[in-house]
Amino acid sequence: MAILHKYDAVVVGAGGAGLWASYELARAGVNCAVLSKLYPTRSHTGTAQGGIAAALGNMEEDHPDWHCYDTIKGGDYLVDQDAAEILADEAIVTVLDLEHMGLPFDRTPEGKIEQRRFGGHTKPDPNNPGKRIPVMRACKSADRTGHMILQTLYQQNVKHETKFFNEFQVLDLIMERGECRGCVTIDIASGEIHIFQAKAVILATGGFGKIFKVTSNAHSLTGDLVAMAWRHGIPLEDMEFFQFHPTGVYEKGILISEAARGEGGILFNAHGERFMERHAPSMKELAPRDMISRYIFEEVRAGNGVGPHKDAVWLDVRPDTINKYHSAPGGKKVTAHGLEAALPDILEFVRLYEGLEPMKEMFLIQPTAHYAMGGIPTDVHGRVLRDENNSVVKGLYAAGECACVSVHGANRLGTNSLLDILVFGRRAGLDAARLIKETTFEDVSPKADEVAIAQIEGLKSSKGKESVADIRKKMQLTMDQQVGVFRNAEDMKMAIGAINDLREAYQGVTVMDKGARFNTDVLEALELGYLLDLAYVTATSALNRTESRGGHAREDYPNRDDVNWLKHTLAFKNNGGVEFKYKPVTITKYQPQERNY
Ligand code: FUM
Repeated sequence: MAILHKYDAVVVGAGGAGLWASYELARAGVNCAVLSKLYPTRSHTGTAQGGIAAALGNMEEDHPDWHCYDTIKGGDYLVDQDAAEILADEAIVTVLDLEHMGLPFDRTPEGKIEQRRFGGHTKPDPNNPGKRIPVMRACKSADRTGHMILQTLYQQNVKHETKFFNEFQVLDLIMERGECRGCVTIDIASGEIHIFQAKAVILATGGFGKIFKVTSNAHSLTGDLVAMAWRHGIPLEDMEFFQFHPTGVYEKGILISEAARGEGGILFNAHGERFMERHAPSMKELAPRDMISRYIFEEVRAGNGVGPHKDAVWLDVRPDTINKYHSAPGGKKVTAHGLEAALPDILEFVRLYEGLEPMKEMFLIQPTAHYAMGGIPTDVHGRVLRDENNSVVKGLYAAGECACVSVHGANRLGTNSLLDILVFGRRAGLDAARLIKETTFEDVSPKADEVAIAQIEGLKSSKGKESVADIRKKMQLTMDQQVGVFRNAEDMKMAIGAINDLREAYQGVTVMDKGARFNTDVLEALELGYLLDLAYVTATSALNRTESRGGHAREDYPNRDDVNWLKHTLAFKNNGGVEFKYKPVTITKYQPQERNY
């Protein structure tokens, strides 16, 4: 028998989006529970390094309009511009709110929040009309900005007595009469099933980078709720757009923050050439991520790669190199001491994972699967949308990486993710508080947990021979090799075939652990099912979009095609396959232009 709970609101996920949503709900006096399959302070927000964007103008002139323009151009004009305006405008109050909550931002000598440069964030070049150059827009706490945000928001929730259910994993959404009425969960420690009935459920569960092998994403990022929403008939938007961050630790994928380049780090190829000068003469190492990742691949293909398989490039953060290539304001030189203060974690990662001293040697990097631009469609209040007419699913919200609002379009700018989770986490919390006041509880079917229980029992009693680890490895390699930075129809058709075979094989997976307590064997098997669905939707959506835009680079369709493809994809589940529908991009001020940096 499942244990029943009744809360006005349930937030699933305790990263930045979930914690700001629950903070707003708590402040509005709403009876709210946060469910997390981890302990909240282990959420993936804690790994975000370089900063959070806001046009504070503390270091040099800056404006929300410039930030908005950069976000739209960075997203290759697939961004919904009304949402980008909100993002850039509300960035300022969001960062100031964090400051007032006590977040320890780095400070200028005058005591203002210190900011650094980041890829794709620009201002007009005063010496070169029509050109743009990097601007200092990323508010930061060394290279631990996400960690500080997570701790700060968790403290605020503790202060407001938010009720946390830690290590509770969601197994199903309760969708009845087209509305969301709660969710079914498992208490990982005991194996007991709990049903949470709610007037509003906010999904804030992050991304699903584990569809790839080389990824900056943590093991927990398996897209459970994104896949569950899809299985319940909610379409997924713009799934073809997956971001590869240019600088992952070689072969391991662990993130080396763009802040390393924001502080002056330089990329070199095998010939010691600073190749970004050739590809993006104005922005160089601070061009957007989609472009730098492609240029790294092009260098490798041209035989200019380095490393044991000649498939990487060098990142150089030695103070002498930085001082040689950059002139700092006021003629100030970069020092080893200054870099240790600005990039403490990054430098330690290099020492730990590459086994060398980054103050004395260059190190290998390669692009790593980092961020899903696509996800569950929402409006600017976080309300989940069920179709191309933007019809709202009553009671269901999504915010952060699991959602697609869409502020990132075809390619996200660095530091806009921390901003997105907070701006739209807050908006989801506020709108849910409004909804709850005007809604009464609806009945939930006594059979709400049937599907979830059948799935778990099916896995435990399976006589199949297939292994979760084997299928996961094959799926990840397929996605790395055939749906990566560069794509073509032939590869993607093979990938879709392979993933379909793996989905078939998945029906025969077995688990060793038949027990109830901490049965991570069963939970990983369930997570693999979600990943397989999301890999399938990603590859199918990528094959469907016959153009190149942002993070989706087709070798067989190398150009952007605004005539046919300036539109969002909605991928619906249809008999286990995918049916595509489309909706227009919202354009307010900025007509699509060629994207030069
Ligand atoms: O490079 C980074 O620090 C990552 C930031 C981001 O994804 O926004």
